[in-house]
Amino acid sequence: MTKLRAAITAVGHHVPEKVMTNVELEKLVDTNDEWIRTRTGISERRILEHGATSDLAVPAVQMLLKNRGITADEIDAIIFATVTPDMFFPATACVLQQKIGAKKAFGFDISAACSGFVYAISVGTQLVETGAYKKVLVVGADKMSSILDYTDRNTCILFGDGAGAVLLEPITDGVHGVIDHKLYSDGSGGDFLYMKGGGSLNPPSHETIEKKLHYIFQDGKSVFKVAVMGMADVSAEILQRNNLTGADVDWLVPHQANLRIIDATADRMGLDKSKVMININKYGNTTAATIPLCLSEWWHEGKVKKGQNLILASFGAGYTWGAVYVKWAY
Ligand code: UT7
Repeated sequence: MTKLRAAITAVGHHVPEKVMTNVELEKLVDTNDEWIRTRTGISERRILEHGATSDLAVPAVQMLLKNRGITADEIDAIIFATVTPDMFFPATACVLQQKIGAKKAFGFDISAACSGFVYAISVGTQLVETGAYKKVLVVGADKMSSILDYTDRNTCILFGDGAGAVLLEPITDGVHGVIDHKLYSDGSGGDFLYMKGGGSLNPPSHETIEKKLHYIFQDGKSVFKVAVMGMADVSAEILQRNNLTGADVDWLVPHQANLRIIDATADRMGLDKSKVMININKYGNTTAATIPLCLSEWWHEGKVKKGQNLILASFGAGYTWGAVYVKWAY
């Protein structure tokens, strides 16, 4: 019998209108456009002025539904990857369900930081592969501006707000769909990238606010070293276990944290830069949204085609990292 797989059958994305350039950041912290561009590849990022993470996701999902020609009440499940949920609970997946009118769907959030989307697609794939669910919506969205300290030049220059979504549906042609996925975590990385305030460890108080515990902290240099290794290693591993070489890959869809990490991963895979999706220059690091934002933008530009081999790869807080091999189905 041909294996039941999950295929990506529609994509959508959304970024808020307000652009924050590197030059604007020069007015807030001791930085400069040249440093940010050469060290990270970022020129500007988008900022959501009003609303929450679910408000970024709604238009992304509406774009996806329009592309697929279905209504929200046909969705069976919503998996929402984010580290900036609207609230601790209920899950942002439930908030989104209500906002889009996905009446029969169940939903839950995944917290795996910058690897959130890769984790969510792996989980969603397996929901479809069991045969139990036919339309699984996988969303990656973050309002990173809500947890950034705009007096900390180590972090505020890096991140932006955005959302992307894909629909997973069953496919039985034995060729297309999500072919393989591999995930990793290493909790010892928790000391280098975190937000310590607001949870049960440090419930919100005057003290947690004074100590700036409700903002992201990152030891960039330490994270950089392991991110380069982790993303390159897992990408090489997914190629190897599927008997692929760089020549077989049509698109690398990397998490957009730093252009230098992306370049190192592409080099390790033996990939020409023309095969790498890069939009970090426009959006910065949108955490769970980076990969679906790329997928949707490139698909809308007609550059992603049926039968192409895509490798999605990420590295983020936790540490968490992983890769997904997709043979594009439509
Ligand atoms: O997405 C989740 C995972 N996260 C990542 O993958 C991010 C990984 N880390 C990085 O991308 C990089 O480490 C950063 C972009 C965060 C920093 O780049 P770097 O090349 O590692 O810079 P650095 O931290 O080693 O800093 C180099 C210099 C320092 O000055 P000194 O000590 O050499 O005098 C910093 O103080 O650059 C200085 N610096 C800045 N200068 C201007 C740090 N931030 C800034 C800034 N503007 N914004």
